[in-house]
Parts: sequence; structure tokens; C-alpha cells
Amino acid sequence: MSYQNIIAEHEGHLGFITIDRPNKLNALNKATIQELHEAFVSLEEDKDIRAIIITGSGEKAFVAGADISEFADFDSGQAKILAAKGQKNLFDLVSKLSTPVIAAVNGFALGGGLELAMACHIRVASDNARMGLPEVSLGLIPGYGGTQRLPQLVGKGRALEMITTGGMINADQANSYGLVNHVVSQEELLSFCEDLAKKIARNSPSAIGAAIQAVNANYDESVNGFEIEIDAFGNCFGTEDFEEGTSAFLEKRKPNF
Ligand code: COA
Repeated sequence: MSYQNIIAEHEGHLGFITIDRPNKLNALNKATIQELHEAFVSLEEDKDIRAIIITGSGEKAFVAGADISEFADFDSGQAKILAAKGQKNLFDLVSKLSTPVIAAVNGFALGGGLELAMACHIRVASDNARMGLPEVSLGLIPGYGGTQRLPQLVGKGRALEMITTGGMINADQANSYGLVNHVVSQEELLSFCEDLAKKIARNSPSAIGAAIQAVNANYDESVNGFEIEIDAFGNCFGTEDFEEGTSAFLEKRKPNF
């Protein structure tokens, strides 16, 4: 499928999404959010795809936030709809995909950009990356899940410092906070993420989907994560992947999922 604001591709077991509005530092306007929704749904439905890498076009930005020009004249009701739709169609969607998504954070990840990276399952930053939630400098708060996901990843105190100062942290600080898992050079970023994605792709897709669901349950107060884990663990035993994984181990060969 071809899009106006993003590029979606796949090669082997890997899907690649590039947000492609470099002149606007890849800011997320409504059209881009809709295209991202469609691209993620389509990659999730493709059973050949076992991991997805998302990055930003150009050398400067992953995503510099929601597109400020689009909501500058919104009233409160319109803003609530914008946040609710965005959370449902993109940010929650990504976090709940059973295909792991790696954010290759290649520059500014601000506001909605950092919120998108945080909705992904794994984050890797290039050494020039700068991250922050600057919304309070605009008289706003984060609306795409930032007030919830940032404390989950870095703890309440650090999250509140980042949110109330609106300041940016660099890649090394983000790494020490646990906001990203790795920092690599700009040149190595995509190949590093591909290597990570290929390691994931060697494992059982059905087990990985169940693992993501169980880990997510830890952050959902409406369910008991331990019960979700027991249930998902049990369900693994009826799968072809379980049959293949255990047989391969006993036959001293690599599994072929
Ligand atoms: N929404 C809309 N447009 C944006 C944008 C955003 N979040 N972030 C950047 N842009 C646009 C700029 O308006 C500019 O467009 P123009 O050339 O048509 O004027 C272009 O992207 C380049 O940005 P510019 O500000 O000139 O780059 P810079 O290197 O001087 O500064 C930033 C980079 C990231 C510090 C700065 O763009 C910025 O502060 N962006 C907004 C960040 C933000 O508040 N995000 C949260 C939104 S809720």
C-alpha cells in the first residue's frame, strides 16, 4: 500500500515504517496518524512479519510531536476527541500489537513523538537523540499517553521532572533512566535494530504475542496480571509452536517456527 506521509515496507520477517515529513520534523498530523494506524494493522495481519521497526525520515528527528498547527484553534471538546482517537487508533494499538515494535529513535522525540516511542515495545536511540515532553510550555499536558507511560518506564519522580520542566534529555540520560534500551551511533541505528528484530524473529510468534499481552497486563488495573499469565502460559501448550519448540529441543536441533 502506498501512503502520503509514511513509507511502509517489509523484507523477510521484518516490517519497516518510516514517518516521512522531514520538513516538519515528522510531526504527527491527523493524516499521518491514520496512515500509521493502517500500516500497523496491515503489518500485524501479515503472518510473515515477526517484528516491526519504526523510525523518522531525515537525520534530525524521529517525531517532533503532534502537529501544533492542526490543533492551535481547537476547543476543549475537540481536543478531547483528538486525544481519545489518537490514543485508541495509534498509541494503544501499537502497545497491544502481538508483533513487537522497535522504535529507532533517530533524533528529536518530543511530545507525541516520545509518546509514540513509549508505546512501542523496545526503544533504541542514536547518540544525537533528544527526548522530552514539552507540552506544558504550550499550556498543555501530554495527551497521547505520556503521563501514564513515562512514569511506567522511568519512575514517577523522573517523569514529573521531565513533564513539569518540559526539558529535553539526551540519549545517554535516556539510557540511564531506562527510557531507551540502547544508544548507538547514527550510522549503526537501523542495522542494530534489524539485528535485534532478527533475534526476535527466530522465536515463536505466538509465544511472543502471549508474552506481550501478559506483560501489558501488569499495567492494566482492570485485570490480574498473574492470572493473565497463567492463562496465556496454559494456552501456549496447545500451539504448533510449542510442539515445534519442545520437539526441536529434545531432538537437539534449532526450532523452525
Ligand atoms: N508541529 C508542527 N510543526 C512542527 C513541529 C510540531 N510539533 N515541530 C517542528 N515543526 C516544524 C516547524 O514549524 C518548522 O516548519 P517551517 O519550516 O514550515 O516553519 C519545521 O518543522 C522545522 O522546525 P524548526 O523549529 O525550524 O527546527 P529547529 O531545529 O529550529 O527546532 C525543535 C527543532 C524540535 C526544537 C522545534 O521544532 C520544536 O520545538 N518543535 C516543537 C516541539 C514540541 O513542542 N512538541 C510537542 C507538541 S505537542
